[in-house]
Amino acid sequence: MSDPQDLAAFLDLGWQRLTRGVVDRHAAARHPVFATVSPEGAPEARTVVLRGASRRDGTVEVHTDGGSDKVTSLCANPRAQLMVWDEKAKLQLRLSTRVSIHQGEDVGDRWQNVPDGSRIAYGASPKPGTPIPNAHAYTKLASRDWFTVLICQIESIELMQLIDPHRRAVFSADDNWTGEWRVP
Ligand SMILES: Cc1cc2nc3c(=O)[nH]c(=O)nc-3n(C[C@H](O)[C@H](O)[C@H](O)COP(=O)(O)O)c2cc1C
Repeated sequence: MSDPQDLAAFLDLGWQRLTRGVVDRHAAARHPVFATVSPEGAPEARTVVLRGASRRDGTVEVHTDGGSDKVTSLCANPRAQLMVWDEKAKLQLRLSTRVSIHQGEDVGDRWQNVPDGSRIAYGASPKPGTPIPNAHAYTKLASRDWFTVLICQIESIELMQLIDPHRRAVFSADDNWTGEWRVP
């Protein structure tokens, strides 16, 4: 391991583990927990697939159904946190973000790259979360109209590593990602 006091190297490790999630379906960062706040102020957390991560832009990307509750919540409050526990690296990552919602023409050529088998994740009748009389009383629409891209602009990254001794740091976009150590 590199110098454990090296903040920049710690952030490098965080980005390495994060970006791996985009290309490797077995990586821990493949499935972050994505947490939002409902219009009523209630916390909501759920698993998603990490579809993109750009250190240059300071963004991560998630795809979802435009009819899902998380989109309603993000319209009311665009702040979201993504959390990953990467057991191999003994590293917890928490990304505090501000989310923009993209649909229709705004999603570019992403829909063409969604495999046929995965398209059923986008669009449902009735809408996701609607009470139904039995488990299968719904239709999946596989519709480009409901395909929604969430671009999460990262405001800060908190890394917490359970090595001995533990270490924790916070890196903020406002501070140009210089970072500071925190008590774990
Ligand atoms: C392994 C796994 C991966 C998932 N990936 C996504 C995803 O990429 N996008 C998504 O919207 N929901 C995904 N889900 C479903 C969400 O966890 C959640 O059940 C759904 O989006 C409805 O959430 P909401 O009602 O809070 O909006 C995934 C669930 C699991 C278990």
